[in-house]
Amino acid sequence: MDDIKKGLFITFEGIDGCGKTTQLELLDKYLRKKGYKTIQTLEPGGSDIGKSLREILLHHKGYVSDICELFLYLADRAQHFETVILKNKNEGNMVLCDRHIDSTVAYQGFGRMGDIEKIDFLNNLATKNQKPDLTLLFDVDIETGQKRVGKEKDRLEKESLEFHKRVKEGYLKLAQKYPERIKVINANLGIDEVFLQVQKIIDDIL
Ligand SMILES: Nc1ncnc2c1ncn2[C@@H]1O[C@H](COP(=O)(O)OP(=O)(O)OP(=O)(O)O)[C@@H](O)[C@H]1O
Ligand SMILES: [Mg+2]
Repeated sequence: MDDIKKGLFITFEGIDGCGKTTQLELLDKYLRKKGYKTIQTLEPGGSDIGKSLREILLHHKGYVSDICELFLYLADRAQHFETVILKNKNEGNMVLCDRHIDSTVAYQGFGRMGDIEKIDFLNNLATKNQKPDLTLLFDVDIETGQKRVGKEKDRLEKESLEFHKRVKEGYLKLAQKYPERIKVINANLGIDEVFLQVQKIIDDIL
């Protein structure tokens, strides 16, 4: 199919410790074996400017206002989308991206109880109204995810249990709203069993 030769933009979403990075690497290997060209990237921090923004977003020690946080994520996304995601997709690469628009809706929207409609508007501004071709949502129990992450927590990982519950539920609401794009994966299982679910979804698309 011509479309696939243009590359697909696939995002990996879910709460901390759900297995996004692990599964992204497994899918990367799987796609390369099949002969696809791939790139791995992430938000925040997938562009030149983004690296500095990531440092602030994850490790700033002082107070960060909710709106400041939102705009930093969106600044990161705007630069990353144009200079990395779109560029690679247009060159025919499969773009595998760890977190993207749905993280902002889930964390800054549902988690921090921000205005979802405004966040949608801003996400659209950052991505020129374009959406991922596919989003894999790794749904894991909060306790299981937290155990996997361990003790070294970043600024957002240190948030309360209630915050993480809202984020998890927010993600599931997004999946209900966009069932064509967002596929929910049971991420409580072992790494191989989780990847089998990913593989099935990908095989259906390719
Ligand atoms: N299905 C699984 N079962 C058990 N352990 C897992 C599973 N998936 C990942 N892990 C382990 O849990 C830890 C966190 O996984 P990973 O880094 O992939 O999660 P993540 O979603 O990328 O987390 P973060 O949001 O913090 O970046 C890693 O040590 C990984 O090896
Ligand atoms: Mg990760």
